[in-house]
Amino acid sequence: METTLLPTDTPELAKEANRRAVDLLHRGEVVALPTETVYGLAANGENEDAVAKIFAAKDRPKEDPLILHLPHAEYLSEVAEVPEEISGAIGQLTQAFWPGPLTLILPKHPRVSPLVTAGRDTVAVRLSAHPIFSKIARLAGCAIAAPSANRFGRISPTSASAVLEELSGRIPLIVDGGACSCGLESTIIRVEPGAKTKPHFHLLRPGPITRDALKEWGKVILPKKAKPAREQTANAPESPAPAPQEAPGLFASHYAPATPLRLLASPDDFQPEPGKRYALLSYKEDPKAGYLSLHPWEEVVTLSPGAGKLAEAAVRLYFVLRQLDRLGVDEIIAEPVSEAGLGLAIMDRLRRASS
Ligand code: TXA
Ligand code: MG
Repeated sequence: METTLLPTDTPELAKEANRRAVDLLHRGEVVALPTETVYGLAANGENEDAVAKIFAAKDRPKEDPLILHLPHAEYLSEVAEVPEEISGAIGQLTQAFWPGPLTLILPKHPRVSPLVTAGRDTVAVRLSAHPIFSKIARLAGCAIAAPSANRFGRISPTSASAVLEELSGRIPLIVDGGACSCGLESTIIRVEPGAKTKPHFHLLRPGPITRDALKEWGKVILPKKAKPAREQTANAPESPAPAPQEAPGLFASHYAPATPLRLLASPDDFQPEPGKRYALLSYKEDPKAGYLSLHPWEEVVTLSPGAGKLAEAAVRLYFVLRQLDRLGVDEIIAEPVSEAGLGLAIMDRLRRASS
């Protein structure tokens, strides 16, 4: 199959790209679309044959459920049954964060296909804020199933060219909306009524909506703490992935380059092997951190040079991982970033990439 890439740089081009995308969605085909987080591989979430094409194009196991993206907020009741005990909390969250990079796990509506939810009684729901995605979803008028537009287990694409790298020849259309503004996948939470008045938010995947942002509306419960990286290198790698039944797709190894990646806790943990070629993924190229002077690195790539901005690091992370993966080194060595704010999501992805 030939993959067409359509630009959206002018209103006319955008209109034509939207028309083509909506036409394909209505015909039960898949299309790659930009969202504010990462590019998604979209299909009509209410058409099982179309949903099956997502799994096929990505080589994704059927056990891994998909997120449904709504055409508008009121559509929530078409795909989910919000329990009375948490309807207030859901209302506050959607008011505060939708449209935007927050995915809610809710009891599914009977009309949602088990193919979308991998047979579970819950469904993941989000409302994208990206102007192109939201326009196309509104025009399509249905729930859009869309996982990240990469082959299974690989790095999520944050540009149209990265989608092409992943899915060229497997899908008919990519709508090019430029680079994604968040650069990391949406935050995923499951909401439970709290013991007292505050609801509990189980953080299944940290993302652009940070713990601090959520805290205002409820008690944030983090996934089980990972072992420090020092132990990870000595023993079998582990990740803070929630139990498989909690978030099935959040496998310990995910978001991974083909080149082995090792996340260090401290520069002392690195003893280079003679003859091997290493590249460094640096946070801010701070000589005081002690990583730059370790080794004659084949290449040093920096997430946020200078002061170090977590938002910049998040936007660049997947782009930079792809760049490092093309070098053909034996191993990528990653320096940790602070786990404050967005840093929690960045470290989560680095841990999975190193698994
Ligand atoms: O930002 C995003 O969320 C992007 C854009 C395209 O919207 N989408 C995305 O989808 O990251 P995906 O499929 O790559 O990741 C969604 C994650 C998977 O790990 C999946 O297992 C989990 O959400 N998930 C989906 N439905 C679930 C459910 N009912 N219960 C628990 N986890 C669920
Ligand atoms: Mg994904």
